[in-house]
Amino acid sequence: MHDDDWICGRLGEDEPWILGAVNPPVFENSLFTFDSAEELGAAIRNEDERYVYWRGTNPTVDLVQRKLAALERGERAKCFGSGMGAISATISSLVSAGDHVLVLGAIYGPTTQFLRYLEKYGVTHTHVDDLAGCAEAVRPNTRLLYFESPSYMAYGVVDIAEVTAWARERGLVTAMDNTWSTPLFQKPLTMGVDLVVHSLSKYIGGHSDLVGGVVVGPERLIRPLALTEYQLYGAAMSPHDAAKVIKGLRTLPVRMAAHQERGLAVAAYLENHPSVRGVNHPGLPSHPGHAVAVRQMTGFSSLFSFELDTDSADRVGAFLTKLRHFRIGVSWGGFESLVNAPALTVEESVRATMGVPVGLVRLSVGLEPADTLIKDLDLALEELA
Ligand SMILES: Cc1ncc(COP(=O)(O)O)c(C=O)c1O
Repeated sequence: MHDDDWICGRLGEDEPWILGAVNPPVFENSLFTFDSAEELGAAIRNEDERYVYWRGTNPTVDLVQRKLAALERGERAKCFGSGMGAISATISSLVSAGDHVLVLGAIYGPTTQFLRYLEKYGVTHTHVDDLAGCAEAVRPNTRLLYFESPSYMAYGVVDIAEVTAWARERGLVTAMDNTWSTPLFQKPLTMGVDLVVHSLSKYIGGHSDLVGGVVVGPERLIRPLALTEYQLYGAAMSPHDAAKVIKGLRTLPVRMAAHQERGLAVAAYLENHPSVRGVNHPGLPSHPGHAVAVRQMTGFSSLFSFELDTDSADRVGAFLTKLRHFRIGVSWGGFESLVNAPALTVEESVRATMGVPVGLVRLSVGLEPADTLIKDLDLALEELA
C-alpha cells in the first residue's frame, strides 16, 4: 500500500472542513438555481463541470469522484449508479459500429453479456486466454482490449504492463476492471491502462448497503464519456450512496488489511485439506500468477475460489448449507463472509464454456476472525468427507 493511501479517508477533501464537521454534508439537491438565464445557459453548456441537475453532477458525488481519482492516480473519475452502469458506459464510449473488442481472460458475466448485446450495433468481440491469443485474434478494426486482473472466478493474473505495452504498439485502447484489488492494492493506470472501472458495491463500499460504480482515467477519455454516455444512460449515483462510499473509504485501508490477512489464512488452510483439489488465490506462492501478482500488486483481497474433491452438484450444495458463518449469496467484498458455487447458480452449458468445474466454490472472506471461519469450513469439509 502506498503511504499516502492510508489517509484515503481524507484524500480529495477540501480544507478546512465545513464548520469543522468531520463528515461533509450530503447535498440532497436534484437541481441548482441561477440568478440569470445567461448564467444557467453557460452552466448547461458545461454541465459536467457546473452543478445544474443531479443527473449531471452533485457536490457529494463530485467529492467521491475526486477521492477515487486521487486513489487511482487518475486525472478524473465519474461515478455511476452501479458497477455495470460504469462498465457499459465505458465500453460504449470507446467503440463504434464496425469495431472489434478483444477480451483477455475471464471477466464478469454481465460484462460479457453487454458485449454480446453490442453485437446488434455492429460491435464484435473475441475472448482469448493470453497475449499469444491476443496476437492471433487482433484485427485491423480492433479498438479496445478489455480485461480483469485477477480474473473472474479463476483469479488468474494478467501481466498488466506487458499487455498494455502490446496494446499501445497496436493503437488499441485498454480498459480494466480493478474491483478485486481496489485502488489500494493495485493501480492499473500507472501500468499503462487507459481506463479503470470499479464496482463500488464490493470492498470500497464495504458494508453491503449500496450499489455503485466508477470509471477513472485521463480527462481526454472521461470528458466525452461524461458528456454523452453518462448523461444519456442516466445511471447517476445518488448523493446518499455517495455519502456511504465516503464512509467506506474512511476505513478502506484497515478493512483491506484485515480482509487480506483473513483471506490468506483461510486459503492456506484449504490448500492443505485432503478434500480440496486446489485453491485459486493469487496471494498463495503456489498460484501460477503469484510472481507477477507480487510485482504489480501491493496486497490481496479476500475473494477466491477452491475446488471441492467432488463431481456432484448435490454434494456441493450440501457443503454450502453446512456452513454457518459463510452465508450463501451473490456479491462480495462486504464485512460478512459469503459463499457461492457456480454449479448451483450457473447453467451447466454456460459453466462448461467457462471451464468451471462442478466442485468450484467461491468464498468472500469477511471480517470475522480467521479461526472462526476455518473451524466452520473444517466441520463442513469433515461431513463432506
Ligand atoms: C468483477 C465485477 N465487476 C463488476 C461488477 C458489477 O458491479 P455492480 O453489481 O455494482 O453493477 C461485479 C458484480 O458482481 C463484479 O463482480
